[in-house]
Amino acid sequence: ALERTFSIIKPDATRRNITGKVVSMLEEGGLRVIAQKRIQMTKEQAEGFYAVHKERPFFGDLVSFMTSGPVVVQVLEGENAIARNREIMGATNPENADAGTIRKELAESIEANTVHGSDAPETAKDEIAYFFSEDEIVG
Ligand code: CMP
Repeated sequence: ALERTFSIIKPDATRRNITGKVVSMLEEGGLRVIAQKRIQMTKEQAEGFYAVHKERPFFGDLVSFMTSGPVVVQVLEGENAIARNREIMGATNPENADAGTIRKELAESIEANTVHGSDAPETAKDEIAYFFSEDEIVG
């Protein structure tokens, strides 16, 4: 089915000026950018977005990293977009990611792993609504 998923191009990618390369890989993978904006996340925004991870030992570092520079938040649309995007991104840890995936080709580390993508339909809906209003999404 035609789905929407939420994506973040993380600070390691904006710092290296490779956001276009990431977008190309998403588009070549069959996804369409139907909303996009570059923002500086606040600490509160990052803590809220990653609230599910707040008991994890890496939570503080993750919030620091995600607020260390601009990010590009996106809504992506396509057939089975949630699973498709996860294939295009590759495993969370770039060392475990398949060749040709964004994280294998571009990520710096398990933390600075270049992209975030929603993991399920319910989280996709919530994550999209966390950053975008309906009028900003043009499918
Ligand atoms: P993301 O898909 O955005 O979801 C949570 C993020 O936490 C993940 O990508 C990584 O950037 C980071 N992360 C996950 N596991 C670890 C870990 N073991 N050590 C450090 N960072 C992690």
